[in-house]
Amino acid sequence: MTMPFIDLKAQFRELETDIRARMDAVLAHGQYVMGPEIKELEEKLAAFAGVKNAIACSSGTDALLLALMAHGVGPGDAIFTTPFTFIATAEVISLLGATPVYVDVDPETFNIDPEALRLAIRAVKMGDAGKYPLPTGAGKLTPKGIIPVDIFGVPADYDSIMELADRHGLFVLQDAAQSFGSQYNGVRAGALGHVSATSFFPAKPLGCYGDGGAVFTDDDEMAQLMRSLMVHGMGTHKYDNDRIGINGRLDTLQAAVLLPKLSVFAAELDQRQRVADRYSMLLSKLAGFTFQKVPEGCRSAWAQYSIVHERREEIQTALQEAGIPSVVYYPKPLHIQTAFADLGYTAEDMPVSMHLARNIFSLPMHPYMSDEQVDEVCGVIAEALA
Ligand SMILES: Cc1ncc(COP(=O)(O)O)c(C=O)c1O
Repeated sequence: MTMPFIDLKAQFRELETDIRARMDAVLAHGQYVMGPEIKELEEKLAAFAGVKNAIACSSGTDALLLALMAHGVGPGDAIFTTPFTFIATAEVISLLGATPVYVDVDPETFNIDPEALRLAIRAVKMGDAGKYPLPTGAGKLTPKGIIPVDIFGVPADYDSIMELADRHGLFVLQDAAQSFGSQYNGVRAGALGHVSATSFFPAKPLGCYGDGGAVFTDDDEMAQLMRSLMVHGMGTHKYDNDRIGINGRLDTLQAAVLLPKLSVFAAELDQRQRVADRYSMLLSKLAGFTFQKVPEGCRSAWAQYSIVHERREEIQTALQEAGIPSVVYYPKPLHIQTAFADLGYTAEDMPVSMHLARNIFSLPMHPYMSDEQVDEVCGVIAEALA
């Protein structure tokens, strides 16, 4: 039997009664858009993250978009982010006519490198690509914001990032699409940066049964603005429009799915930690692996268990032959994607991201994975490397 990469069916078996009851309640009251489950979910998400405002929306991508729109991001603005992420992180920058300025990642955490970020901000301010590789025409850009991504669930270095942001008057939008449930010095994802965005895509640590997302902020004014932008720039009533917005609401049925899942989420995070610890314990006995560092004081949400090895291809082939799936996140960093060709970056501009793209891969990871399954995966890898 093939081992699942993420076992959503095992989770459904555990939660089926509650999920069905919650969905039935929506079918009974019929408020499919902005029903009472949305408010309940938002309050519970805010309480979980330890932040004043949570706004449920249609996807992680729209969550990022709403946050950028609320900050008035547009043409001429430079937004600093990592190329070692999913396209959505930078796509929303370009969609608004602003320019992504890529900053390479740290070789240990795989998250944006604060020292490189410092150089990149200076380079944009001085219009000097000699200080750090910049997109074509970046000399005319104004630094506006930073989008750190908590890749695979590990929080970025927010102390360093916030210090740089304060010094240069930039906003910080935490891309917590993969890290909802993680912690940074006791602060949960959602409460880091000035505003935070997460995704409820089914494969995420907290996922619904379709597309979904949320934005978080302690800033009430910003929250109000994002709520308006999410509903076509709505003013004081439905057909009163103060600004250009989007249709970015979460469906009530998706909130009904998320509520029972949120009630077991903390326990599921512990189970993810158990799986990750077992992988690390077994794989550290083998030669040649680089593991993603979870810095002191941090907890990963373990969206993915990702490892680096120069013999990736051999290992992946052996896993495949044994019926064990593995996935490469991400084979092509954003700075060399065709969609961003007009930025004029070359592969060598971001060497750490390139190295990861060539050697990284992710193993099956979910809270319902047994120790025996982890042992089986590691056994196949040990044999492939023997
Ligand atoms: C880092 C990151 N940002 C943003 C997103 C976008 O989220 P969604 O698919 O919900 O739009 C994803 C989803 O994979 C992601 O991994």
